Amino acid sequence: MAGISLIINGKSQVISADPSTPLLWVLRDELGLVGTKFGCGIASCGACTVHVEGVATRSCILPVASLAGKNITTIEGLSENGDHPVQVAWLENDVPQCGYCQSGQIMSAAALLAQNVSPSDEDIDNAMMGNICRCGTYVRIKSAIKQAAKK
Ligand code: FES
Ligand code: FES
Repeated sequence: MAGISLIINGKSQVISADPSTPLLWVLRDELGLVGTKFGCGIASCGACTVHVEGVATRSCILPVASLAGKNITTIEGLSENGDHPVQVAWLENDVPQCGYCQSGQIMSAAALLAQNVSPSDEDIDNAMMGNICRCGTYVRIKSAIKQAAKK
C-alpha cells in the first residue's frame, strides 16, 4: 500500500501508518514530534491542536488519510527559534504552569492572530474556549495574546 503524503512543517513526509490513524499519533509515534499532546482523544480539550492549512485543528480525531497534500504545522514548526510573537509573549508573561496544555494553547492563539491582528476580548474567548488548562492559566494566556497582537 502506498504511503500518504503530508507536508509537515514545510517538509514532505510519506506516512506509513494505517489511513484511519489520527494525525496526533502519526506526529508523535511515527515522526517523533511530541510537542503535540494527547489529552482527551475526543476533540474536547485542545491539547492536540495543530494548524491544517493555517486553521487550528484537533489532531486527535483527524484520520491521516483526510490530510493528503495538506500543509500541517505543529508547535515544532511554528518558528525556527521559538521566537514567534506568541511564543515570546508566552515567555514574557510566564504563562505555563505544568505546561501540558500549552502547545495547544499557543497553536490556537497563533492561528487566531494570523487571521485577526487585533482581537477583542470576545474574539479571544471564542478562539480559545476549546483549549482547557487544568492549571488555570487563562488570565495570563489572555494577557499574552494581547501582547502578541501588539507586535
Ligand atoms: S486530545 Fe485532542 S482535543 Fe483533547
Ligand atoms: S499549564 Fe498545566 S494544564 Fe495548562
